Amino acid sequence: MILAPSILSADFSHLADDVEKVVSAGAQWIHIDVMDGLFVPNITIGPIVVKHIRRITDAYLDCHLMIAEPDRYIDAFAEAGADGITIHAEACTHLHRALSRIQELGLKSGVSLNPSTPLSSIEYILDVTDLVLIMSVNPGFGGQSFIDAVLPKVGGVKELISERDTLLQIDGGVGTDNLGMLLSLGVDVIVAGSSIFNSMDPESTIKEMFSIAAANNS
Ligand code: DX5
Ligand code: ZN
Repeated sequence: MILAPSILSADFSHLADDVEKVVSAGAQWIHIDVMDGLFVPNITIGPIVVKHIRRITDAYLDCHLMIAEPDRYIDAFAEAGADGITIHAEACTHLHRALSRIQELGLKSGVSLNPSTPLSSIEYILDVTDLVLIMSVNPGFGGQSFIDAVLPKVGGVKELISERDTLLQIDGGVGTDNLGMLLSLGVDVIVAGSSIFNSMDPESTIKEMFSIAAANNS
């Protein structure tokens, strides 16, 4: 399991401390939610914050762009130090070109699907996709409940990428209660925001998540 704590639920006035805390507890990726107030109702952070996070950690920076026409900002996030950039199929007119650009810059390219978006929208772009992100909440906010109706889509992605190295990521409403079930369906990368940062002890929550993953492997 790759664990990607979402800093959307971190304390932004102590962001470096929160990043260091989850990385030292074992998280390999840091999930950075970028929102523009247009594609989603919320507004969060831009490349300048990524640049500063890059200075304080070697962890993989997983930038989830919930912005309209994300191709306008791919180069800026790459320059800021992102390791991977995920864009939404619904937000991007020229998805194949945008994903190709992310790869050209030497980053992992990701495509994300809202709960209502069918899998057919990514059928023809898999050659330029390193990661598929299935949204299990409607993007925009942390702390929402997992939408069970997306589960068949997880199985569908597994079939689509079965002959490929593509990673499968899930984001929204994930915690220790549903983690084992998601791993058993073959999810590779787990995003978790509120279940980690709003817990009494984020480090022990991360340790519990890794022990669930270990039990799932045995
Ligand atoms: C939602 C974001 C998520 C969010 C997840 O739009 O993409 O990454 O931070 O938060 P939780 O884990 O609290 O559902
Ligand atoms: Zn996200």
